[in-house]
Formats: sequence, C-alpha cells, structure tokens
Amino acid sequence: MKRRTVTAGIAAALLSTFVLAAGAGPALAQAPIVIKFSHVVAPDTPKGKGADKFKELAEKYTNGRVKVEVYPNSQLYKDKEEVEALQLGAVQMLAPSLAKFGPLGAKEFEVFDLPYILPDKAALRRVTDGELGKKLFKKLESKSIVGLAYWDNGFKVMSANKPLREPADFRGLKMRIQSSKVLEAQFKALGALPQVLPFSDVYQAMQTGVVDGSENTPSNMYTQKHHEVQKYVTLSDHGYIGYAVIVNKKFWDGLPADIRGELEHAMKEATLFANDSAQKDNDEALDLMKKSGRVEFITLSADQKAAWRKALDPVTTEMTARVGKETVDEFKRETAATH
Ligand code: LMR
Repeated sequence: MKRRTVTAGIAAALLSTFVLAAGAGPALAQAPIVIKFSHVVAPDTPKGKGADKFKELAEKYTNGRVKVEVYPNSQLYKDKEEVEALQLGAVQMLAPSLAKFGPLGAKEFEVFDLPYILPDKAALRRVTDGELGKKLFKKLESKSIVGLAYWDNGFKVMSANKPLREPADFRGLKMRIQSSKVLEAQFKALGALPQVLPFSDVYQAMQTGVVDGSENTPSNMYTQKHHEVQKYVTLSDHGYIGYAVIVNKKFWDGLPADIRGELEHAMKEATLFANDSAQKDNDEALDLMKKSGRVEFITLSADQKAAWRKALDPVTTEMTARVGKETVDEFKRETAATH
C-alpha cells in the first residue's frame, strides 16, 4: 500500500521534471516549486514548529516561487518509509531523528545515542556547528541526500508501567526504541528487551501492552499522550534526541541558484527558531504532564544516577566499533572543549 503511494509520488515527481525540462507553456512554467516536508511528530513540538517556520520563511523569501507542504504526524509516511520516499524523490525534505540514520548505512550518526555522551546543549552545538557535524552530513551524499541543518529536541526521560529507579528495575521489560543499534545495546545493558517500533505506533503499543515502556523527550511524550498510557516517568536525562534536516540531493542540486540561496537563508532562521524554542517546549510539556496527574514522576538520587551510569558505561565501549572510533573520539573531544 505504502509502496504504491511512493511509486505514485515518484511518477508525479518525474512528470513535473519532464514538463519543466520540456519548456512547458507560461502557465505551467510559473507553477511554484513544491517541497513536500514529511515528519512523524505533532505540529506542536520542536520539530513541528521548525518545519512550519521553514515553510513560512521559504515562501516569503522566494516570493511564492516555492511552496512548502508540511505533512506532520506520519500522515504521509512512517519512520522507515519516509527515508525511502526521500531517496526516491516522492518527498523532498525530512527531519528524521539522528537515531534513525543507521538503517541508511550512516551508522556514525548513532554517536548521538551513546548514553551520557552529551553533557549539555553548549557541547552539542560544538558538534553540530563544527567539523564533525559537517563530516556527518558528507556521509549522506553517497545516499542521494544533502544535510541542511541540525535541529534540537532535547534530553530524554524514561517511561514505563512500573517505577524505574535502579538498573535492575528494567529487567525483562519490553522497551520501545528507535531503529538505532546503540539504543538496542543501551536497553540490553539494562536487562530489558528492546523493540524497534515506528513512532506512530508507540501509543497503541503501550496501551495494549505490546511494550512496557519507552524513552523519549517530554514534548514527544506529551503530544502523543504517552503519559496517559504509562504510569511512571523517570527524569533520567541519559541521552538526547535531535534531528538532521535533509533533502533529496538531485532536487536540491537542480534548484535555480537564487532559489537555493533563499531556502538556505530560510533554513538558517528556522534552525535558530527551532533551537531557541525546543527547551521551552520540553519544559512546558513536562509541566503539563505533571499537572495532568496521570503519571508519577521519579527523580533519581545521586546513588541511583551513579548506578545507571555504571550499568550503561559498557555501551560506549561495545558500540565504538560500530559507530567508528574516530567519530566517537572526535565527538568526545568536541564536547569536552571549553572554547
Ligand atoms: C521517536 O521516534 O521516538 C522520535 O524520535 C520521533 C521524532 O521524530 O522526534
């Protein structure tokens, strides 16, 4: 079913390319360039707001020569299909979580998933705005993808239908993960049973007991109502969720240079906007979940935090070969720097 949708999308994309290349009549030639921006989260989240801001600015800066159609909430495609659709040209723009680039063969992106690797947002910026951020984007080019920007979501919490205080509390729990092998190793180190599921399926999986818990940011949890089907949330801050905004390379390279310049301008501003509001969105979501009274929040003691770190420490050693030693070392160097 989805495949047919992808194929139909490609046929339409190819047809419009052909019509433009063949020097279509004036009416068609003036038709705006359409960017389909597909994503899996709610509009009222850091990524959703970033996408809407990009649409607003891109249309403004190109005087309507570009039209951006934003499709939130997995309306068009789920996690795996959206990347396939981008490569095939059925959509032009996405912002997948950095934990979803492994299946594409860009395993280096999973460095962001290593437990406790990011001390804070300032350290994150040194990676995303620095050399490593550029190198990671370079890896995408052979996959027909261009990386345009890194967008924030925030630090993760753990949710489950039982309280998670000690590493031993995870034993035997079915925990939903994104498609990252590092996240798989993380939950295995805790004795849990990780299960990859598309984001759009998580609520129902929690409701029906297919999974016992998950990890996510407060803004994602709240907008998907996970707090209504989970009993406990542990404020663990053990890892981070962020995004790479990516475009189909052929589409991007084929744009008139002036249009591409305006879109880069729009992306730069949308990135500042998204990254400025992400922390606020997560703080608000946490507050709203607390006020809802639907879920109990757990704050870890210093001893408990140390026990989590100890249990998760081997994950970095174990996963360094997969992610690449050079990438892990460079990440650690850049996050440790104080400039
Ligand atoms: C998830 O799949 O858990 C999230 O990372 C979804 C998203 O794009 O934030």
